[in-house]
Amino acid sequence: MRVAVYPGSFDPITRGHTSILKSGLVAFDRIVMAVLHNPRKNPLFTVEERKELIRESVVEMGEDPSRVEVDAFEGLLVDYCRHKNARVVLRGLRAVADFEYELQMANMNRHLNENIETVFIMADDAYFYVSSNLIKEAARLGGDVDALVPGPVAKQLREKLGTK
Ligand code: PNS
Repeated sequence: MRVAVYPGSFDPITRGHTSILKSGLVAFDRIVMAVLHNPRKNPLFTVEERKELIRESVVEMGEDPSRVEVDAFEGLLVDYCRHKNARVVLRGLRAVADFEYELQMANMNRHLNENIETVFIMADDAYFYVSSNLIKEAARLGGDVDALVPGPVAKQLREKLGTK
């Protein structure tokens, strides 16, 4: 059974994330979507809301929910992977801007636990410029981001931000 942990803030999950998840499910039997619990980041959605939005997005994608576990973690990612018996961390890459940060994280994680490998998947080019932060900023200012996020997220963003 090939298991990968796909960690992130997912505040909220975007179509960039779902494109990586979809490709990831071609390469792995199971993927654990691991939402980072980091109160210092002042998120828009609570961890529980983010997990629920991921679950609803997986259903919308038509993927088998039994292949996608949705969980939260705090502390070191490599410790969480060990706890999950996963040896692979899955991360998405968009433009070159992501590269340096991802390289640093992958190297730090390798330093912390040399048994865990990071595997990168390129985001679908339609969503190369999509990030949770830009989605939130555009949505806050009344921009239409519906095409860039899963349906349940579009709905929740409107409710949270009181827009439209
Ligand atoms: O979606 P993000 O915010 O880019 O995800 C970042 C994440 C959650 C992958 C990263 O912050 C993380 O792994 N945090 C856990 C703490 C940790 O293990 N740090 C050391 C490795 S850099």
